Amino acid sequence: MNLSPLISNVHFPPISEVKRWLAERPDDGQELIDLCQAVPDYAPAPELMEHLSRLLSDPLMSKYSPDEGLLEVREAICGYYGRKYGTQLSSANICLTIGASQAFWLAIVTLCRAGDEIVVQAPYYFDHPMALDILGICGVYAPFVEADGGMPDPVTIEGLITDRTRAILVVSPSNPTGAITLPETVRELFEIARRHNIALIVDETYNEFIPGGVRPHDLFSDPAWGDHFVHIASFGKTYALTGYRAGLLAASEEFIHHALKAQDTMAVCQPRITQHAVKFGIENFDQWVAANREMMSRRHDLFRSEFTQPSNQFQLAASGAFFAWVRHPFSGCSGRQIAKRLVDEAAILCLPGEVFGPGLEGYLRLAFGNIQEDAIPEAVRRFREMA
Ligand SMILES: Cc1ncc(COP(=O)(O)O)c(C=O)c1O
Repeated sequence: MNLSPLISNVHFPPISEVKRWLAERPDDGQELIDLCQAVPDYAPAPELMEHLSRLLSDPLMSKYSPDEGLLEVREAICGYYGRKYGTQLSSANICLTIGASQAFWLAIVTLCRAGDEIVVQAPYYFDHPMALDILGICGVYAPFVEADGGMPDPVTIEGLITDRTRAILVVSPSNPTGAITLPETVRELFEIARRHNIALIVDETYNEFIPGGVRPHDLFSDPAWGDHFVHIASFGKTYALTGYRAGLLAASEEFIHHALKAQDTMAVCQPRITQHAVKFGIENFDQWVAANREMMSRRHDLFRSEFTQPSNQFQLAASGAFFAWVRHPFSGCSGRQIAKRLVDEAAILCLPGEVFGPGLEGYLRLAFGNIQEDAIPEAVRRFREMA
């Protein structure tokens, strides 16, 4: 049987790839420090778990919901957007999805045909080009500029737009750099999208980890936001519910109307239990979320101050919520070679830079959001000693 060359040519998921290295590593007694996958290391709030266990006995919980999600849940989410973004969305602007991952698929299949182009800021979240490649959509990559800390440059991005471009894609806060695109830059990108009659897609999976809970941008307050803005979010990291697959797509009513055709064939709906978890979180956990955000900020400060000590030959190129993006000192070696050495010699699991974009072999991504504050000095010590 022949497989689609579009999928055969896509690289295997990098997190699975590096986790396989663990099986081959010699047992030298060092405890593994996992800086690989961006998963909050803490459990969901106990009240949330109690609430969900009570709900499980309700027979309705095992049934489908409407494709877009339960109205009461989407209305609660609209209230949350009022608090977070300063604008009350309409429930018709929202489709609940199987994580932000599926929201991205809905966005791109609604916008693009095979052969169309999307301008993607590098370093990118590796799942995005994987999806584009599988669908035959061409990613056109805006290069990472270390001096700009990985911030998107609107002039560069506009220069990459052609008559086949359907969208600009940015992730803010960024995975892998942690960089937060300034609200005014988001606005500039939106104006570019408007001028070229294309979409600006912003993946805001980490929006609750912006220090101080600052508003990510003001696009939703533009009465015509839906004509050119597509927003992707996840409650997975926010409520430590990554396994519940709690994603969301927000777009114009017309966009959501068409996206629901794909939703119906891909997933039908987000599981009801997930929807209730999100609603309960939104109604009860603003303070819990804020406390975790502060904790992540402290981890970031500590990581940065430890990592930038003069004795470390790894260089911090960018960092922010959850992530550090570092340049390794071994010129001529790929990120993969160094990430493998880190597993074998230092029991550190992290991702090689090249999975986040072409030409990024000199970098590594460290998801320090996975480890507790007291483990950070030891993690950094292992980097220092390796070099
Ligand atoms: C930028 C970005 N988008 C989307 C996702 C996937 O989120 P979800 O688990 O909600 O599908 C991740 C997960 O790490 C991510 O980093």
